[in-house]
Amino acid sequence: MKILVTGGAGFIGSHVVRRMVNTYPDYTIHNLDKLTYAGNLENLVDVESKMNYTFIKGDIVDQGFITNLFEKEKYDAVIHLAAESHVDRSITNPLEFVRTNVIGTLNLLEGYRHHGNKDRGHFYHISTDEVYGELGETGKFLETTSYDPNSPYSASKASSDHFVRAYGATYKMPYKISNCSNNYGSHQFPEKLIPLFINNIKNNLPLPVYGKGENVRDWLWVNDHASAIDTIFHNGAIGETYNIGGNNEWKNIDLIKHLCKLMDVKLGREKGDSAKLITYVTDRAGHDFRYAIDSSKLMNELGWEPSVNFEQGLEKTVTWYLQNEKWLNNVTSGAYKEYYTKQYAER
Ligand code: NAD
Ligand code: DAU
Repeated sequence: MKILVTGGAGFIGSHVVRRMVNTYPDYTIHNLDKLTYAGNLENLVDVESKMNYTFIKGDIVDQGFITNLFEKEKYDAVIHLAAESHVDRSITNPLEFVRTNVIGTLNLLEGYRHHGNKDRGHFYHISTDEVYGELGETGKFLETTSYDPNSPYSASKASSDHFVRAYGATYKMPYKISNCSNNYGSHQFPEKLIPLFINNIKNNLPLPVYGKGENVRDWLWVNDHASAIDTIFHNGAIGETYNIGGNNEWKNIDLIKHLCKLMDVKLGREKGDSAKLITYVTDRAGHDFRYAIDSSKLMNELGWEPSVNFEQGLEKTVTWYLQNEKWLNNVTSGAYKEYYTKQYAER
């Protein structure tokens, strides 16, 4: 089977590529990535010499390039992860999110519609729970929950989900969609909460907690998201949507205090040292209060379950960042400093 993975140099994509390349040596895996600030070939050093793996640098927004690629390669399946993924960046630059997440997805859908081997595979679109909007204190997102996105990021992802379903209905294109909760783990760019706070604690910098820190997220270890994607790709039903979550809700401030305690131990600091860095800053505009995923369809129908609990996953994550100082220093030099100042200096 010949599979195009998009966004495979990013955080989740690199875990998916690694899993597919290593678990299925008979598959041919092409990884298409623009290498934006979030894409990093250092995330893939352990697979780059594998016989069944090829990296292709390219932009999914470039229609001519995408058409030629599909015409030439005649892919059996697509696993589409490439996206602009950070909510704060979508607030400052919404158009980039429409270009990549909406137009880019459409270009891939067109490529697969015209040139894909649709009787051998399908178009698997990786999406987010943020398309469902926000929850109050109770309840969980189901696959049947209505879409109600609040940020430019989630609106662009919702739009791309709708286009995938529209291609299923209109052109009978075989597709699957999964909507996942917040991921954490190794190789995550330190703009997202957990790696940003690990990096700041390490460097004794303030920990910018948005608002009162009362927002709730459901956290899943990235390797377990990759295993869910593998399960859905192979065993999920065509035309179906699957929610993926960790059943692991944390109020931001509780998670941050927990992380601070772990970092004190890992860095050999006095108990309570890291928590002194906590600083409450201006809230994110349109900040969704709570996300929580009901993954029972995926668990009951396809038998997936997470392999680690949050304590284990967070411990592995912190250990990875502390052992990969070079990776962290490389991604936090240059443009990152500008981004950080722009995002946080005035908060
Ligand atoms: P990321 O920002 O770490 O990586 C995105 C990757 O896409 C990068 O390698 C980047 O270079 C590439 N890319 C961006 N624009 C591109 C373009 N125009 N052409 C080709 N490549 C391009 O993102 P992530 O956190 O790994 O998320 C991957 C996917 O999973 C996204 O679709 C995201 O919406 C979804 N998702 C993420 C989470 C999460 O918690 N991070 C949760 C649920 C769903
Ligand atoms: O739910 C899935 C989504 O999770 C994915 O689709 C997105 O790609 C991913 O970025 C993530 O979105 P969030 O906005 O929930 O993640 P982020 O790590 O940016 O923020 C997590 C929570 O922490 C959120 O309530 C905002 C808060 N936060 C975040 C940052 C970066 C802070 O308090 N301070 C910060 O500096």
